[in-house]
Amino acid sequence: MNKYVLVTGGAGYIGSHTVVALSENGYCPVIADDLRNANPVVLDGLTQILGHKPILHQIDICKKEALKDLFKKYSFEGVIHFAAYKAVGESVEKPLSYYENNLLGLINVLECVQQFGVLNFVFSSSCTVYGQPIGVKKVSETTPKQLPMSPYGYTKWMGEQIISDFHHSVPHLKMINLRYFNPVGAHHSALIGELPIGLPNNLFPFIMQTAIGKRSKLIVYGNDYPTADGTCIRDYIHVSDLAEAHLKALKFLECQAEGLIDDLNIGTGNGTSVIEIINSFERITGLSLAYEIGPRREGDVVEIYAEVKRAHEKLGWQARLSIDEAIRDAWAWENYLASL
Ligand code: UD1
Repeated sequence: MNKYVLVTGGAGYIGSHTVVALSENGYCPVIADDLRNANPVVLDGLTQILGHKPILHQIDICKKEALKDLFKKYSFEGVIHFAAYKAVGESVEKPLSYYENNLLGLINVLECVQQFGVLNFVFSSSCTVYGQPIGVKKVSETTPKQLPMSPYGYTKWMGEQIISDFHHSVPHLKMINLRYFNPVGAHHSALIGELPIGLPNNLFPFIMQTAIGKRSKLIVYGNDYPTADGTCIRDYIHVSDLAEAHLKALKFLECQAEGLIDDLNIGTGNGTSVIEIINSFERITGLSLAYEIGPRREGDVVEIYAEVKRAHEKLGWQARLSIDEAIRDAWAWENYLASL
């Protein structure tokens, strides 16, 4: 019997890699994605990796009836909910559209989960829920959450709160919030990867697009922070490791006899500075990256990386791929895009 798993936002960056991981492990992922932020290149790449077209339903999960029809059609073993807007800067300019899309989408999915008796639910959360952590750099799941720095951050923070309140009312459900640190890299085939629309906000796509010649130079947002080289420190996690964490989270939930709710950090446990990333990029590709030091970006956290013991203990998961591998794969993906 097919083990159908609903993957909302499955045509996106992390979603598409998770679809691959699920397919390779005996699941039958069903993508719900209205493709507003997706690119046909990723769907073609998915088809090549899977050896067949993915099951895709082009629906907007904010339209409850369309979502219900999907739940009527399949008997889902679990739901992995990615579909959301994720650009921090844009969320400041269009807060209502972020709250509407990210929260309404989540609420509709949870309503269907309850109505159709789906037991296992994984939510795409973010280390953004830790805000500017006070007095710690390595954050664990018990590090107190701080108020987020942007409407985008609030949608993740409120998303976790909604899930917690919802779980209180239906305690037999099994729910996990995966708090990702900085997802980077691409599938080793270079057939799927991150494809930001317009100017990238995030470091990796900006580096890749600069090196390939789409951008003139990278601006490093400040080198006067209290870190060894003065630039901010993050925990960069390979997207394929992240995809595997979703697979393991789902398997873990399936094995639990009782209802539960949990939060798990998904990172490598190590911090890397912006300058270290640039140096690694130059070493691996043999290229010299055009960059200059600019002013600090408002809202940037100085240094944050994950305590990852809990994910290891509960899921038996840990990051396997290095930053060098993430850079190699992101660069191969950028070159593949340039070749199309
Ligand atoms: C950002 C979001 C975070 C979100 C995550 C999703 C902010 C403040 N935070 O995380 O809420 O969950 O994306 O992926 O936007 N950098 C440069 N030059 C650039 C781009 C980035 O120097 O052109 C630096 C940043 O200052 C930072 C590091 O690179 O130190 C990583 O930045 P980025 O990739 O944007 O991720 P976060 O800011 O950690």
